[in-house]
Amino acid sequence: MDPFSPSPLHQAAIFSVFVVPLLFYGALYHLFAIPSNLRHLPSVPLLPLLRSYLSREPDDVRIKRLIMPFADDLSEGVVVVWAMGKWMVHILDSKLFMQVSGNMVDFPKQRPAKDSMFCRFMGDSNIVWTNGEAWKKQSHIMRQAFSLPLPIELFTTLAENVFQVIETTSSAADSHSHTVCWSDLAQRFALDAVGTSIIGHNFDSIRTRSEFVSDYNQMMHDIAQPLYLIAPLLERVVPRKKVIWRMDRLIRGFEELLEAKRSDPGDDIMTAMLKHPDLSPTQLRDNMASLFLAGHDTTSGAMSTLIYHLAVHPKIQEAARDEVIEILGPTADPFAPQLSPQSMPYLNACVREALRINPPADYITPRISHMDATLGNYYIPALTPLVCNTYAVHHNKATWGDPEIFRPERFLHGQGAEPWVPFSSGPRQCLAYNFALYELRTLAAMLLRRYDWVLPEDSIHASGLRNAFSPFALALPIDLSITFTRRSYPEA
Ligand code: HEM
Repeated sequence: MDPFSPSPLHQAAIFSVFVVPLLFYGALYHLFAIPSNLRHLPSVPLLPLLRSYLSREPDDVRIKRLIMPFADDLSEGVVVVWAMGKWMVHILDSKLFMQVSGNMVDFPKQRPAKDSMFCRFMGDSNIVWTNGEAWKKQSHIMRQAFSLPLPIELFTTLAENVFQVIETTSSAADSHSHTVCWSDLAQRFALDAVGTSIIGHNFDSIRTRSEFVSDYNQMMHDIAQPLYLIAPLLERVVPRKKVIWRMDRLIRGFEELLEAKRSDPGDDIMTAMLKHPDLSPTQLRDNMASLFLAGHDTTSGAMSTLIYHLAVHPKIQEAARDEVIEILGPTADPFAPQLSPQSMPYLNACVREALRINPPADYITPRISHMDATLGNYYIPALTPLVCNTYAVHHNKATWGDPEIFRPERFLHGQGAEPWVPFSSGPRQCLAYNFALYELRTLAAMLLRRYDWVLPEDSIHASGLRNAFSPFALALPIDLSITFTRRSYPEA
């Protein structure tokens, strides 16, 4: 043995004193340092961001606190933000938002990592993430299916199911009012609307406790572990077996629904897709999961925001009700032309304002710059992840003046030329936006006609609407209780 060469013990000591910290530092640098080709851009400091994720701060609060100052105080159109293990360029300016969301060639969608939870649930062959020909084909089929007449009758029946739940919830001894967890009921309404008309399966979740729905909610709750969101690599190192088990059970549920649909077709969107010879079983399943996710949490978030703002603004609630009663009368079922924006401009303005002030999707799914580009004053290198930040565009002080105030009038009388993008813009805009807007207006109109409502005195939202922490950029008001009181009308 060479007396001058280090013994194994020495080698181990050298390794642990020098190499391990070096590797550790290298890994941290790789995870947290801004890539050199983005350092010329303004950036949000890392530590407050990490603190925000670890404390489960909802997106809207984080954006307002850490990102909006770049738009409002520094007039920046873009800013670099660390999220989900990487630095991404957030687009804050409305014109740049349109430039990126409107150009599918230079800014295609960035596919999520194969081993992310998002991808496990929605697959990677769905309309939301595909680009090019695969997207064109799926988009064409879905757009055709969405051009069917709107299911207003279904929305009306579901609204009546909601009334039944409200009125069978026990009321306080000295009143005729009923306090319900509205955020939960709104989610169940949206799920039954999407289930019946789009997926072709009646979950009947307003009236019953669906196991499928409980599994879904539990899964969404379990996924939202800040550590895993900060370091997605952990999914590989310490897999979350319980979350995966639950998710796989839901995916099997989708597969079974599809199988049942083959032998018992309906007139829903999944049936239209099943008939298409070009769509593979994987594409069908991935689209079913995507429609389920894209179609119900968004609408239910919007419905909770709207009902909250009407509760805390009684005069606006009253004005919307006057309009609804004038158009619908006290009892008749509504039909589509009555619910159009032209027929009920004030209710429509309330819905638009709810979608502005708390957009159900705070950001749209990330794009990637295909080649070197210029956004505003800045050079953006090829392969940069880009996030169009809807919340930031909707809360820009220079554009809106008083963005934190719920003021439907801003959408009346030819106003509203401001950039309103809750459904995004350009060719990848939400293809169900008309469906969603009619769904919202139908339920809101029927509720306004039947009830007055307020926030309960002990509401956790007394000093402002609070969203849940969401791993999927969804703005979902949390545990929103509402007290409804039935209105009476003189006999006709
Ligand atoms: C208030 C309710 C809704 C909001 C705010 C909303 C918002 C959005 C947004 C922002 C996008 C663009 C995503 C992106 O570019 O990354 C989108 C796309 C999409 N949405 Fe919606 N959505 C709503 C309701 C629905 C409903 C009810 C469905 C159908 C069940 C649906 C299905 C889709 C689909 C399939 C896409 C992908 C379109 C494509 O990539 O071509 N959405 N939605």
